[in-house]
Amino acid sequence: MTNWKELDQKAKQWVEEAGELIRNSFDSALSIQYKSNPNDLVTNMDKEVEQYLISKIQETYPDHKILGEEGYGDKVESLDGVVWIIDPIDGTMNFVHQQRNFAISVGVYGDGVGYIGLIYDVVHKELYHAFRGEGAYMNELPLPKRDEVKIEQAILSVSPMWVTENKRFDHQLITPIVKRVRGTRSYGSAALECAYVAAGRLDAYMTMRLAPWDFAAGLVLLEEVGANASTLSGEKLDLLNKNSFFIGEQSLHQYILKEFLVK
Ligand code: IPD
Ligand code: CA
Ligand code: CA
Ligand code: CA
Repeated sequence: MTNWKELDQKAKQWVEEAGELIRNSFDSALSIQYKSNPNDLVTNMDKEVEQYLISKIQETYPDHKILGEEGYGDKVESLDGVVWIIDPIDGTMNFVHQQRNFAISVGVYGDGVGYIGLIYDVVHKELYHAFRGEGAYMNELPLPKRDEVKIEQAILSVSPMWVTENKRFDHQLITPIVKRVRGTRSYGSAALECAYVAAGRLDAYMTMRLAPWDFAAGLVLLEEVGANASTLSGEKLDLLNKNSFFIGEQSLHQYILKEFLVK
C-alpha cells in the first residue's frame, strides 16, 4: 500500500531542493543544446534537475515508475502502479532567455488516478500543490473552487502561433474565441498556465500539442478546484501520449467547446 501522505511530503521536499539547485545555477554559465529543432532547447539544468529528482525517487521508491521529459526515467507504457510524471523545467525557453516564467512540474499517479500535483515557480518561490480530495494550494494559501466566468470576462491563455495558419489545427476556429474574450495572454510554460487557471489568474488555456509531463501535475490541481480539462475536441486526455489541450473554469470550458470547437 502506498503511503500517499508520506510520499507527498517527500515529493515537496525534493521539488524544493531541486528549485534551490536552479536558483543557485543562475550565476554559472548555462550549456544549451537543441533537440528536435533550433527553438527546442535543453540545458544542463533540465538534465541535472531530472536526474536529481529521479535519484531521490529511485532511492526511496525503487518499484515506482518514472516518466521524465529528458529521458532519464523509465519507458512507461502503462499507468499501472505508482507513476511519477516529471518535467524538470517547464518553460526552458523562458528559463534561458528570461530567468523567470518556468516551473518544475511533478505529478504522481496511482493506477492512472492523479494523487499529487506539484508545480514550483522557482523564481517566485511559489509552490502550487494539490493532494487528491484535499484541495489545491499556493504555498499555504488554499485555492478556492473556481466560480462561473462568462466568456466576455475571461482571460484566455493561447499562443499567437495558434491564431496564425499552422499545420496542427484550423486556426480559424480560434479567431472568434479570441475576439470574444476580455483578453489573451501567453506565458510559455504549460505547467504554470495550468497553475494559473487553478489559481484564478487565467480562466482558460488552450494549445495544440502537449506532452504528459507538461500537464500531469496541472490536472491534479485543476480537479481540486473544479476546473475542466480535455483535448480541443472535448475528449479525455491521455497521460501516455501527446494531446491537444484545453482547460478552463467548468462553465466557460463547456461553453467554448460547444459554441466554437465541437461542431
Ligand atoms: C514547453 C512549454 C511551452 C509549450 C510547449 C512545451 P518545455 O515545455 O510548456 O509552454 O508551449 O509545447 O513543450 O519544453 O519548456 O518543458
Ligand atoms: Ca523541452
Ligand atoms: Ca514542458
Ligand atoms: Ca521541460
